[in-house]
Amino acid sequence: MITQQPNNIRHYLQFTDLSADEYAHLFVRATDIKRKFKAYEKYHPLADRTLAMIFEKASTRTRVSFEAGMYQLGGSVVHLTTGDSQLGRSEPIEDSARVISRMTDLVMIRTYGQDKIERFASHSRVPVINGLTNEFHPCQILADIFTYIEHRGDIRGKTVAWVGDGNNMANTWLQAAELLGFKVHLSTPSGYEVDQAVAGLRSADSYKIFKDPEDACRGADLVTTDVWTSMGYEAENEARKKAFADWCVDEAMMQAAKPDALFMHCLPAHRGEEVSADVIDGPQSVVWDEAENRMHVQKALMEFLLLGRVNA
Ligand code: CP
Ligand code: NVA
Repeated sequence: MITQQPNNIRHYLQFTDLSADEYAHLFVRATDIKRKFKAYEKYHPLADRTLAMIFEKASTRTRVSFEAGMYQLGGSVVHLTTGDSQLGRSEPIEDSARVISRMTDLVMIRTYGQDKIERFASHSRVPVINGLTNEFHPCQILADIFTYIEHRGDIRGKTVAWVGDGNNMANTWLQAAELLGFKVHLSTPSGYEVDQAVAGLRSADSYKIFKDPEDACRGADLVTTDVWTSMGYEAENEARKKAFADWCVDEAMMQAAKPDALFMHCLPAHRGEEVSADVIDGPQSVVWDEAENRMHVQKALMEFLLLGRVNA
């Protein structure tokens, strides 16, 4: 859903907030922005613009990539957490949105329920970016698909195997598959399946469910997984460890995939739980490119949300 404010500002709250054509544009921009960064070429299109980053959950990559990225584009950042702001003292999210968006040009939020970021966005004067909610992690999938394209070319028609929890990452992969025309093979333990309604899918055409994770990986172009226990679900950790024991991406699963299949993980990872050390540290793994690309794609996204289509 593209959330339009009266003055036509665009938010990025879920993967479906941009069209396939706009993603094609972002990938071109991210390539150029990455090239400039590697060449130490100054590029300051967001001079005098300020990004507010609101974290209600922990982060390493999201914080560093948005903060470094905004400075590299000539702008500046304000960092807020629940503990050090009035957000932790029950100031209504709508009031926080009204205030923060009068002083800044762009807001990135990492929080719990998707409803919270939707409420913030509907009272914000400036674009709002989802830096992870319980339901979605669109910036990560943006980086993952860009990384796939860099290594292997177009993702249209390809197969992505998702092994593990039916969580925010799985939901966002499914939205991306429906929008960009690829397939997801899903294997989750019983009780941890994706909910098609929560994922906001139009149909079940772009994914297939497998009981056995190795079957999900068979013939896949990309194998990917995530932690067994996402932030906010820590109380379920012990039960999840038991339920997910057979959902560790290992060498046998990678062997079932295509010989040139890539392995991705949004990180942080737990070696020996959702992925074996030989896979994440092995030759098919592109997790470090994937992490770095968060910054390049998000710079392209911030440029797009604030300046529209730049053809520099
Ligand atoms: N992948 C990701 O979002 O990492 P952080 O939790 O470190 O931001
Ligand atoms: N699914 C994980 C992703 C962390 C980047 C979580 O929500 O904690």
